[in-house]
Amino acid sequence: MNYRHAFHAGNHGDCLKHALLVWLLGALQRKPGPLFVLDTHAGIGQYDLADTHATRTGEAQRGILRLLEDPPAPLAAYVALVNELGLYPGSPALIRALLRPQDRLAACELHPEDHATLRRRFARDPQVSIHHRSAWEALGALLPPSTGEKRALVLIDPPYEAEDEFAQLAQGLATAHRRMKGAVLAAWYPIKHRAPLRAFFAALQDAGLRDILAAELHLRAPLDPTRLNGSGLLVVNPPYGFEQAAPPILDALLSRLGEGEDGAGTSLARIADE
Ligand SMILES: C[S@@+](CC[C@H](N)C(=O)[O-])C[C@H]1O[C@@H](n2cnc3c(N)ncnc32)[C@H](O)[C@@H]1O
Repeated sequence: MNYRHAFHAGNHGDCLKHALLVWLLGALQRKPGPLFVLDTHAGIGQYDLADTHATRTGEAQRGILRLLEDPPAPLAAYVALVNELGLYPGSPALIRALLRPQDRLAACELHPEDHATLRRRFARDPQVSIHHRSAWEALGALLPPSTGEKRALVLIDPPYEAEDEFAQLAQGLATAHRRMKGAVLAAWYPIKHRAPLRAFFAALQDAGLRDILAAELHLRAPLDPTRLNGSGLLVVNPPYGFEQAAPPILDALLSRLGEGEDGAGTSLARIADE
């Protein structure tokens, strides 16, 4: 396991994933019933963007640091939360900040040091449980939640280090859906070139998953497979209103993070019908 999110925290992929995550949580909290949130690849929860990991890659400078002042309206709630939390929040910190008293978060992190950091961060928090286990195993083991919540949001955010990560993700989504049919599943994916994505979407269709949308931010045409040319969030069982809410969020991200390169744009595509 070589991937450390500290090098990439605050990049355009984080901005896309977290801005949509904040919207998804808000949508699921329109109903008062308790919500279970599973964050399968949690990282360490908070990052110092001034430290050498982050400044070495400069990804946050071209990402979140362009959004913090005077954000466009569709990003206001997300950016307000980032500003409010002080140290730059990763997904478990954002989710934790938005939990209501009746909601619960389970977060998994496999890297031993990052897991220890995450565990310390949430020690003594009765609404959060931290697991040192593989995401792919957790999707079967932690769904449906043992504490009985009827609604769940699952964020799956793999590092894409392994050759077969897209295949593993397709299997993981199918497992999660089998275990809890109504759960909202959100999976982040990199856009380097299109071929792996075509295979990924086809695998989901073959597995019989229904009602899937893919929200994508393209910084440039996906022609150079060595670069992160954009990224997407795949959502299974999108809550009511996602189709209207996602495009303005994506366009607002592009307006601040895009650099006018050929092929830049946004898209919201239906991968499988309801
Ligand atoms: C992209 S980062 C997560 C970032 C985090 N979700 C956020 O938005 O702040 C991926 C994380 O997954 C961890 N990881 C890698 N393989 C894993 C696995 N099989 N199960 C759980 N965690 C894993 C890595 O150590 C890394 O911290």
